[in-house]
Amino acid sequence: MDERLPDASEATCQRRARTLCESHYAESVRIDIVTIFPEFFSVLDVSLLGTARKSGLIDVAVHDLRDFTHDRHRTVDDTPSGGGAGMVMRPEPWGDALDAILTEQSTVIFPTPAGSLFVQKQARELAGREHLIFCCGRYEGIDQRVIDYTRTRAAEVLELSIGDYVLNGGEVAVVAVIEAVGRLIPGVVGNPDSLVEESHEDGLLEYPSYTKPAEWRGLETPAVLLGGNHAAIAAWRREQQLERTRRVRPELLGEG
Ligand code: ADE
Repeated sequence: MDERLPDASEATCQRRARTLCESHYAESVRIDIVTIFPEFFSVLDVSLLGTARKSGLIDVAVHDLRDFTHDRHRTVDDTPSGGGAGMVMRPEPWGDALDAILTEQSTVIFPTPAGSLFVQKQARELAGREHLIFCCGRYEGIDQRVIDYTRTRAAEVLELSIGDYVLNGGEVAVVAVIEAVGRLIPGVVGNPDSLVEESHEDGLLEYPSYTKPAEWRGLETPAVLLGGNHAAIAAWRREQQLERTRRVRPELLGEG
């Protein structure tokens, strides 16, 4: 076995599953989202997260940024200081919205392509927080003073990117982050073991999965998976993880 990599014995997996469940998690995680497109977040009503909301494990509130404007046109943007293309979100509505939502315990997340890359380790950290606030920027982003001011008021402020590409706004990124974080909150995913054996949990990509039938359109399920030898299956899966990671994401092994 490669000494630099964590081993994936059954005992280790169970230990990790317990750690994921038992550590410093709050009873319920409160999530506030500020956006100019509140209807976008109806997606959080469905699937596992929808169930988690209904059962009270996650408490989500979506706020329309325009409700914090004071002019007839409910203006949220203006031209960039110093010139340039596009529009920048004005600080006043953001300031008022955050004044209404923020506490000293809040972790505030600004999704932006200029942020640090959001990874699984951070999803785990965020799943342990009591209160997350997501601020969805649009156009060329939010006036930087909003972020700088919020740093002086919140427990933590993070500027996060979900990848090296540019979206039209932070909404899609926020849904991705909430899904990644939400499924790590104890009780959201029924079987915590399934949180352990998946891509990125141990720094490797996941092994390929198969189900029945054993043969489909001339393609066979690998024989080892049908033989019932659990040690051989675990070894095969580990090998597959290493091979796939080396081929697709060598930088995860420090090799890229
Ligand atoms: N807003 C626009 N693009 C983004 C990205 N890649 N990640 C996070 N927020 C964004």
